[in-house]
Amino acid sequence: MMNLVGKLVWQREYDTGVTEIDLQHRTLFRMFNKVNLELRDDSGRDVWEQAIHDLLGYALFHFWCEEDLATRYGYDQEKHADAIEHFNEHLAFAEAMNDMRSRLRTGERISKAALIDFLRDWLSRHVTDSDQWLLAFILDKQRQAGLHAIESAKRSAVHSSGECTAA
Ligand SMILES: [Fe+2]
Ligand SMILES: [Fe+2]
Repeated sequence: MMNLVGKLVWQREYDTGVTEIDLQHRTLFRMFNKVNLELRDDSGRDVWEQAIHDLLGYALFHFWCEEDLATRYGYDQEKHADAIEHFNEHLAFAEAMNDMRSRLRTGERISKAALIDFLRDWLSRHVTDSDQWLLAFILDKQRQAGLHAIESAKRSAVHSSGECTAA
């Protein structure tokens, strides 16, 4: 029987408008649901290794994208304390997953519930809270930059048409 208990369901309100990040969040939710569905307490060590490898690998890539955006748009400067807290949450996730992998490699058994509860709790809290603040900030900056680009395009159009008319 399929185990659909505790499935993470994407809600439209989690979308922030920063498309690349929204897509990555959906991927993370999908990866979580796949592991929740397929992994068992008694799955082989290679299956466990692979699940943690995939989740951690994709999460690290995702964190890197967010942190790159945060730096590029000045979140770490303007909202320094929030940025530090946010990056620390990423770090805590990576450390917890790394720790589970190390324990697995020393032959320790990890219960599926321990992994799933940790992932569900972390993902649902982080994506619906910390990420929302960061991405609203990014979106705002992107919009300002977009408007700015439109305004300067208009100005240069006026300028060049002015030149044309004058000529
Ligand atoms: Fe995120
Ligand atoms: Fe984040």
